[in-house]
Amino acid sequence: MQLVRAASRAMTLVLLPFSLSVHGQSIDANQNITLRFFQNSAADSCAYSNSSAALTFTTESIPIISRCFDFADLFSGNATQGFVNQTGNLAPGTIGEAGIRWQLENVDKFDTQANYSRVLYRQHITNPANDDDKPRHYADRRVTVYGGKGCTEKDPSSNETLLPWYGFSCWSEDEGTCGTLPYSIASFSVQPGPDDKNKDGTCWVFAERGAAAHLSLSSQAMMAVFASTSLAIWLCR
Ligand SMILES: *[C@@H]1O[C@H](CO)[C@@H](O)[C@H](O)[C@H]1NC(C)=O
Ligand SMILES: *[C@@H]1O[C@H](CO)[C@@H](O)[C@H](O)[C@H]1NC(C)=O
Ligand SMILES: *[C@@H]1O[C@H](CO)[C@@H](O)[C@H](O)[C@H]1NC(C)=O
Ligand SMILES: *[C@@H]1O[C@H](CO)[C@@H](O)[C@H](O)[C@H]1NC(C)=O
Ligand SMILES: *[C@@H]1O[C@H](CO)[C@@H](O)[C@H](O)[C@H]1NC(C)=O
Ligand SMILES: *[C@@H]1O[C@H](CO)[C@@H](O)[C@H](O)[C@H]1NC(C)=O
Repeated sequence: MQLVRAASRAMTLVLLPFSLSVHGQSIDANQNITLRFFQNSAADSCAYSNSSAALTFTTESIPIISRCFDFADLFSGNATQGFVNQTGNLAPGTIGEAGIRWQLENVDKFDTQANYSRVLYRQHITNPANDDDKPRHYADRRVTVYGGKGCTEKDPSSNETLLPWYGFSCWSEDEGTCGTLPYSIASFSVQPGPDDKNKDGTCWVFAERGAAAHLSLSSQAMMAVFASTSLAIWLCR
């Protein structure tokens, strides 16, 4: 269901680049998602307006399926633009092209030794036609950020620990949202947003997730308390 809808959106993008009609509404043609990555040093300000030095990833595309980008490979490579071809993932019989057409900025500033622990996320519609396109509502794409290569929770400095991942899935404010991670970013993924039917709960604004997330840890701790309580009850019988 999700695939079919995402596919039809991608086709809309391809066929009607200047007047997007998504869910029957006309929206602003600027559907760029922008990610800027900053070093942990205090000198760099994590801001959308600071485009002079920040490693920047931009795409206008809405992917059909999730795609992972390894951070160091991406920014140390030769390419400043590329296309991830997902046409093969379109529903059978669908015409058009699908994928992620991406651009990079400031690749010459990439430092292999630096700690890129801050990310600026911007996915914003100027003059939204209705509430669904306003900040803090589900956006067309979501982004997740990882400490391990290949969009995994693997800690590069230890085989014993896992690192939480962080997610963004809301439309942002015009200036975007900045987050500081407890590690240097190793990879990130760009995914289609949820299907209309799955838009329950709240979208993510730098949400911490994964096995090592504090949320999971506390629920694990609660499970442990619950388990020992049940054991105690059982022993008393
Ligand atoms: C989207 O991003 C690309 C690459 O940075 C840029 O060339 C283009 O002007 C942007 N589109 C809009 C409408 O801002
Ligand atoms: C932008 O970031 C650079 C370093 O990346 C920093 O030197 C500069 O002060 C920042 N400028 C603004 C306007 O935040
Ligand atoms: C980058 O470009 C140089 C010169 O064009 C080439 O020799 C090298 O193989 C390229 N590296 C990659 C990773 O594509
Ligand atoms: C994407 O792949 C399809 C086949 O799946 C091909 O026909 C098309 O030309 C490719 N597009 C680009 C831009 O490489
Ligand atoms: C993790 O395990 C791999 C394979 O067993 C090993 O090569 C690597 O050195 C280990 N890394 C660390 C940080 O312990
Ligand atoms: C990278 O920066 C983050 C955020 O300041 C910090 O928590 C982390 O320990 C740093 N990592 C290394 C390897 O210095």
